[in-house]
Amino acid sequence: MGKVYITTAIPYVNGVPHVGHAVDYLLADVCARYQKQLGNEVRFQAGTDEHGSKIWQKAKEQNIPVEEYVAANSKKFQDFISKLGVEYTDFVRTTDSDHQERVQKIWEKIKDHIYLAKYEGWYCSGCERFITDKEYEENNGVCPDHQKPYEKLEEENYYLKISDFKDQIKDAIESHKMLILPEFREKEILKLLEESPDVSISRPRSQLTWGIPVPGDDNQVMYVWMDALSNYITVLGYPDEDISNWWPAYAQFVGKDILRFHALIWPAILLALGLELPKTLSSHGMILANGQKMSKSIGNVIDPLEVLEKHGTEAFRYYFLRHVDTFADSDFTWEKFEDAYNNELANDLGNLVQRLSTMCKKNNFSLNHVPEIKLEKEYCDLMNEFRFKDAFDFAWEKVQAINKKIDDEKPWALSKEGNIEKLNQVLNELVVSLLEVSKLLEPFLPETSSKISNIFAGEIMPPAEPLFPKK
Ligand code: MSP
Repeated sequence: MGKVYITTAIPYVNGVPHVGHAVDYLLADVCARYQKQLGNEVRFQAGTDEHGSKIWQKAKEQNIPVEEYVAANSKKFQDFISKLGVEYTDFVRTTDSDHQERVQKIWEKIKDHIYLAKYEGWYCSGCERFITDKEYEENNGVCPDHQKPYEKLEEENYYLKISDFKDQIKDAIESHKMLILPEFREKEILKLLEESPDVSISRPRSQLTWGIPVPGDDNQVMYVWMDALSNYITVLGYPDEDISNWWPAYAQFVGKDILRFHALIWPAILLALGLELPKTLSSHGMILANGQKMSKSIGNVIDPLEVLEKHGTEAFRYYFLRHVDTFADSDFTWEKFEDAYNNELANDLGNLVQRLSTMCKKNNFSLNHVPEIKLEKEYCDLMNEFRFKDAFDFAWEKVQAINKKIDDEKPWALSKEGNIEKLNQVLNELVVSLLEVSKLLEPFLPETSSKISNIFAGEIMPPAEPLFPKK
């Protein structure tokens, strides 16, 4: 049995969760549940990113002490993750004292690769990112994501010498020792790496008070990304504890917008610490609303709690794992969501369970013994390549094939004819197929999968309520 460590990006707590935040958690959860099916022991981190100028400003605007503000929002994220049916094992808040102390120790350990220098240039507090002159010109001085002019900074900062590690990072990416997914992003990242100057990892306290103090320099506070990226190992206890059971991570899930931090700064920090690089960095696309970026100012933000309340966890997981591409941008509209719910979940699967269990009950059929179910190679290949949507499609085709087999074999006609031998054989095949599919669906729809096993694995009883009542 192996040990597998899976991570998710830790969201900023300058707002409440929106549907986009669900993507990291769901992909990581599918990965984790599949690894458990393979017999591996899984550790699954989640958390909240609570420092930085953006959060500080928001708390100030709302006139709430910043500690209270971040605690309340962090709680909302924890509740949200649980409502998604996500089985994380560790939760880190970057304001936890353990985390803060460990990040300071990390800083001390990589000191040989840190130097102090003057920064004169641009910053976007929305992105919490230093902006190069080239980007400034390309975007005419305004952040395309936040529609805010870049701020001019002139400050003394500590820098991490990315230049010390460029060759090693390049080699790890090219050799796929650190696999970047989807693979087309690899070139993009290699280009960024080539152009990347050393990165600033602190801000003057005069500009930013809400952060972890730089050890040995009262005038400086850590840059939020230095603090945030470290969470992946501080939560395991690093550097106080031996993390070699879990590190390197099997997979780190992030959105495409933050892949650059994970593929450039994060590896540099790890290499400076003498730690291995994660095996896979899997980056997903953005959820759009009617083809548009979701934003408060446009007023098209979809509240995930509303979706969960109306349709439940399983329906939410279904849409976001099958109708949202694993790697590319995808749209959310209520219409698409409701179509998928009614036509696919309710019709294809819910009806199938109802229909087949009713037929079995009526004909007094139960399995003599429940066969041991192995995961098919084609499915495992897709899962191992992190192509979760494709694996889900593969499972769904089997759901549809069972429906077709019922229509073709017409068990009700066999029953009417009194052809009991053939009827039992057909029901047996159908039930075994459904249990097989149910196993494939387990990482995606865990509750549904367990309901199906309960209904069909012993004496067969139709559920009192349809699994997915039509809406
Ligand atoms: N705090 C940083 C991450 C630090 S990780 C060491 C951050 N936070 S965030 O709240 O802006 O984003 C958190 C995650 O949600 C990221 O993976 C991001 O890509 C993802 N998403 C944010 N908006 C999204 C959509 N509209 N759609 C899909 N994912 C989105 O970045």
